[in-house]
Amino acid sequence: MPMALIAPSILSANFLNMEADINMINNSEADWFHLDVMDGRFVPNITFGMPVIAAMKAKAKKTFDVHLMIVEPEKYIEGFAKAGADVLSVHYEASTHLHRNLQIIKANGMKAGVAMNPHTPIELLADLIEDIDVVCLMSVNPGFGGQKFIERTYHKIRTLKQMIVERGASTLIEIDGGVTLQNAGLLIKDGADVLVAGNTVFSSPDPADTIKKLKEIGK
Ligand code: DX5
Ligand code: ZN
Repeated sequence: MPMALIAPSILSANFLNMEADINMINNSEADWFHLDVMDGRFVPNITFGMPVIAAMKAKAKKTFDVHLMIVEPEKYIEGFAKAGADVLSVHYEASTHLHRNLQIIKANGMKAGVAMNPHTPIELLADLIEDIDVVCLMSVNPGFGGQKFIERTYHKIRTLKQMIVERGASTLIEIDGGVTLQNAGLLIKDGADVLVAGNTVFSSPDPADTIKKLKEIGK
């Protein structure tokens, strides 16, 4: 089985004691922090923004993978770079000028990601796949943690993997939503490179051990 990166989602962490969860992730086998920014417009929920991310960055020791679920993401790309994002994903559905957004993200020193809602055909990325560092495939409808995985995602992963291989691109496939210890193996087998896990990690009795188990599946 190929290696997969594990990205615990902070959305399911304890917001009253974030430092403890940051330290847990620092000391775990996790690879990235996944940070979900929601604006109450693109998705029916509001989370946190630049100040919270900047504060966390001071304590965190791993890659910051920031998932923007916001309209007009182009307005805030520079701000998230300053806050400490290493990978910045904008939604396909929120980007009128997606190619330009990717260019701005890279010009600000970050890896460029495109997140796609479950209903959006993966084939729409055909004309810019080489320009995308990470495709964040939503395997739930964005907005909330703890939702059920949408099974159609396996098919989308395989189609996307084929496109990446055929074009010789180095794009990573990230799966976001409903990832569990049960489906992680199948996701990796079909081509997932990064697994986001919120509920699975933070609702478990031993989050660091759950991260270790997810990581072992990908070894
Ligand atoms: C959903 C977010 C996800 C979420 C995943 O809109 O983008 O990152 O935190 O949470 P789980 O793993 O609980 O489905
Ligand atoms: Zn996310």
